[in-house]
Amino acid sequence: MDRDRTIQPATSLHGTIRLPGDKSISHRYAILAALAEGESEITNYSSGADCASTLDCLRAMGVSIERDRDRVRIQGVGLRGLRQPAAPLDAGNSGTAMRLLAGILAGQPFPSEIGGDESLSGRPMRRVITPLEAMGARIEARPGGLPPLKVHGGGLRAIDYESPVASAQVKTCVLFAGMFAAGTTSVIEPLKTRNHSEIALAHFGAKATVDGLRVSIVGGPKLEARELRVPSDMSSAAFFVGAALMLPGSELRIEGLGLNPTRTALLDVLREMGAALKVEPDPDDGGEPTGTLIVCGPASAEAPILRGGVIEGETTAGVIDEVPMLAVLGALSDKGLEVRNAAELRVKETDRIDTVADNLRRMGVKVETSEAEMKIAGGSTLTAADLDSYGDHRIAMAFAVAALRAAGPCRITDAAAASVSFPEFYEILESVVER
Ligand code: S3P
Repeated sequence: MDRDRTIQPATSLHGTIRLPGDKSISHRYAILAALAEGESEITNYSSGADCASTLDCLRAMGVSIERDRDRVRIQGVGLRGLRQPAAPLDAGNSGTAMRLLAGILAGQPFPSEIGGDESLSGRPMRRVITPLEAMGARIEARPGGLPPLKVHGGGLRAIDYESPVASAQVKTCVLFAGMFAAGTTSVIEPLKTRNHSEIALAHFGAKATVDGLRVSIVGGPKLEARELRVPSDMSSAAFFVGAALMLPGSELRIEGLGLNPTRTALLDVLREMGAALKVEPDPDDGGEPTGTLIVCGPASAEAPILRGGVIEGETTAGVIDEVPMLAVLGALSDKGLEVRNAAELRVKETDRIDTVADNLRRMGVKVETSEAEMKIAGGSTLTAADLDSYGDHRIAMAFAVAALRAAGPCRITDAAAASVSFPEFYEILESVVER
């Protein structure tokens, strides 16, 4: 199958869309449903390969899971019911699957191994190894704390962990391990990261509490099966929002979108840059907030596309997955975009400072980079170019959107990488663009 794809420029974008379920929430619901008692049903489960990896890992530990498109039925085995997998677990491309499951594996009385693809095998795991070892697990990794991880778990003790990195994956890993420890385990974050685990743990019946930046869980919860619907993924929506904002006369409605305040920094940043965005919240049902997002593009082909600006500090952490899309918008903006405090971008599925800069430069945009910063010149026109996802789903999608605004067709090498989080991406994009 040809993994490359040519994207033709577009004139505008119109329509109402619903997007697949949030990746972060899907992983969490699946893992907690597996450890609950009884059958859980999750609808709008993420269609991406990453969340399928989590289901496969759970199946390999004896959890019975039936899947019919976006509907997943999970027969929970109870907190102590997982079985030793017969072979190493495969987290595929998913850092979230590996780091979250590492917390679960650390709590098991059996040894296990978890690995992943080439990209994941180069991503830092010391950040989860350190707290899990402090809880009493022993974890073998390759030099530099790289996967695969061999986990010797069981007999965990509760800890108070002050995390040096702002990472929801690290927080969740420790909280998940905390379910298997006696007493109360706490994580103190350097700044607030996405709080889906806190919400989901409480929803499944665990005693999870939040006090400022401290999140705590009481060990030994009895989790109860649930029926849950996953809100649509804000990080996937970002590409459609970006496309609408750069194509004149566009009007797009995105329904059923996850609007958890720890995930909406993108909307704040875009408004700050001058975007016209409207949010209509759905009625509150006590779980993850959702609603409709309405995005309007520039009034005419001559009208400016956003003002540009600076993203730094906590804001960078809040939009970390959306930086590739924001960088493209930055190039088209009046003043350009500076992204600071972004060292974490270097350890994502690719080094996203390098892969974003490389693709923008191929399109004729001036970009300066340093260890933790990117400075993207504004007022750029995007030339048609050969682009490369480098196997990174968000790079593929951000530059497929950039190609809509290019002066001619752009070929994207390994555009198919999008399916890691969003297999329907190109189909939905083609259904709303006009040429
Ligand atoms: C995620 C947290 C973020 C994010 C990733 C998903 C999660 O990673 O980039 O796509 O589901 O917890 P970090 O925890 O490494 O910041």
